[in-house]
Amino acid sequence: MTPTRRIRRCGPLVGAPSRGPVRFVPSARRRSLIDQTFHRGRCGRTDRLTSEPSNVVRVSHPLVDHHLSVVRCETTCPAEFRAAVHRLTMLISVPATDHLPTDRVQIQTPVAMADCRRINADVGLVPVLRAGLGMVDPVLQILPDASVWHLGMYRNEETAQPVGYYDKLPNGSPPDVAMILDPMLATGGSIDLVVRRLQRWGVGDIRVLSIIAAKPGIERIAKDFPDVKIFVAAIDPELNEHAFIVPGLGDAGDRIFDTPNQD
Ligand code: PRP
Repeated sequence: MTPTRRIRRCGPLVGAPSRGPVRFVPSARRRSLIDQTFHRGRCGRTDRLTSEPSNVVRVSHPLVDHHLSVVRCETTCPAEFRAAVHRLTMLISVPATDHLPTDRVQIQTPVAMADCRRINADVGLVPVLRAGLGMVDPVLQILPDASVWHLGMYRNEETAQPVGYYDKLPNGSPPDVAMILDPMLATGGSIDLVVRRLQRWGVGDIRVLSIIAAKPGIERIAKDFPDVKIFVAAIDPELNEHAFIVPGLGDAGDRIFDTPNQD
């Protein structure tokens, strides 16, 4: 996907009230929103709205909201964009690693023996090049023993169809769990190809971690792959005529790697 505008370099704090593209909600209104948020018990949980498929988890948390506002902002510079992608990925990773198998272990603390649990699953991370690379480190921070398998794919700008250009998955011994990393799920064409490739490899437990998905794309993947779980920070309503997510965040790969379209 290609953004139409050059992204600004890091400068003074983005989002100062009444300047630039960030418009703050007036304080009285904000207080009322905070009250409503607490009263609804919305803080710190994963949402499965009734209108969403049962294999879709939208991660809902004030920190997610905050960092989403950073990645969405068109004046966020590449360094801040990467940092916000990193933070959002960590927040999504927690629910996405739910139900990983664990073993009971006895651990000697400095004081006594303690009953503990340790993850007992072979987890493979599958970042979709390029943009998925920005999500690898934060997942490795919480799953340091995961292996990383790369698949390269880009969207043809005319057709919006995914084109594979790199595949180094081996033939045998798939991991117990594969976590697909791609910040954007637009039409769903790229994730469709990746899921099919992982199924051919023999992976049984496939989880997709994405930051922003478009409703049509995520519904397509959820319906075509009912056993695949999809974890996202936001679901945007639509795609535009160029198959860009609206409102979205532009092109995640170009914003992570600071390679704006020069045409
Ligand atoms: C973007 C994004 C996804 C894909 C989503 O990649 O990172 O891989 O498009 O679109 P889809 O759901 O319609 O398939 P892009 O083509 O911009 O490549 P890049 O990561 O190399 O920038």
